[in-house]
Amino acid sequence: MRIPPHKTGIVVHFNFLTQFFREPLTTAIHTILEEVAHSHKLHVWGTVQAVTRACGGAAGALPTGPYPAVPAGWWPKPAVVFGDHHSPAPSNFDLKFDKVSFRYSDDLPWAVAGMDFEISQDRCLAVVGETGSGKSTLVNLLARFWEPDIGRIMIGGKDIRSLSESDLRRCMGVVSQHAHMFNMNLRDNLLLARAGASEADLYAALETAQLADFVHALPDGLNTRIGESGRLLSAGQARRLAVARLILKDAPLWVLDEPTEGLDIITEQKMMDALYERMAGKTVLMITHRLVNLQGMDHIILLENGSIIEQGSHADLLSSNSRYAALCKRIN
Ligand SMILES: Nc1ncnc2c1ncn2[C@@H]1O[C@H](COP(=O)(O)OP(=O)(O)OP(=O)(O)O)[C@@H](O)[C@H]1O
Ligand SMILES: [Mg+2]
Repeated sequence: MRIPPHKTGIVVHFNFLTQFFREPLTTAIHTILEEVAHSHKLHVWGTVQAVTRACGGAAGALPTGPYPAVPAGWWPKPAVVFGDHHSPAPSNFDLKFDKVSFRYSDDLPWAVAGMDFEISQDRCLAVVGETGSGKSTLVNLLARFWEPDIGRIMIGGKDIRSLSESDLRRCMGVVSQHAHMFNMNLRDNLLLARAGASEADLYAALETAQLADFVHALPDGLNTRIGESGRLLSAGQARRLAVARLILKDAPLWVLDEPTEGLDIITEQKMMDALYERMAGKTVLMITHRLVNLQGMDHIILLENGSIIEQGSHADLLSSNSRYAALCKRIN
């Protein structure tokens, strides 16, 4: 059974939000996801809200025994609501974070504070910073998993809140840090990104993602099932499959959150070279804590505690007595 591409965003969104109560409810959630995949009819967002409400109400009563305790403040904020309207597509894909601040709950510190930057179409921006500095939060906000508390995010001069969910998802290809895969075979997981793609297209995308050799070597090739949530793949393979989907989708705006994490240095280098070749004309937001292969980026911003502390080109930052230069020295 195939999930139509316009529904995958909803399913991924659903799965993302359920992470907060996944441990105690894994079985129920997977049943619901299977239901979604099979019926296509379930109103997923309504279900998310219902489950969230149910769990929120029962938070105090959640078992603590074999399950991890739920940290204070980790419940999602009020639902992000997308309009049902069809919004005119942005005329270009310049991306702007306009003084955006956000915290996951009122009793937590700001995860991003006063985030203010722009990327023009056909330009690549790298966001770097140590763990917990707020990099993935930028993706969460851009994908509208959460709303900024202050400021706005614009694509092509339009506030993303004015875009319908399908319009927003359509203009963006995302490789998230926790790439979500479906319990289908490799081919169907790829076809979610571009229904009707030819075998040659699928393998070209896998080549870029440095996964083609792996798939060729499988007895069932593209027909290999990858198990629930892609558990038969390593984390690195799942992420590379997500990169292949990004290539197939060919959206104008690319968001890559640690695409090379877990790869060996040679494979990482090959993937970055292949990605750079395909970036022409795209707006690229590349998140990484690996400070390698960033020479090709037009601009780099360094985050610390949710704020930009340095920015510039790789060469400029390296030549100054910057934190970036020190980090490069320490990490590489
Ligand atoms: N769902 C959440 N609820 C509450 N706090 C969160 C949540 N997700 C992230 N945080 C907190 O927000 C801050 C920024 O997290 P974020 O995931 O954006 O960091 P990161 O730079 O992507 O880190 P990493 O390099 O480890 O992926 C951290 O302090 C983190 O603990
Ligand atoms: Mg992250």
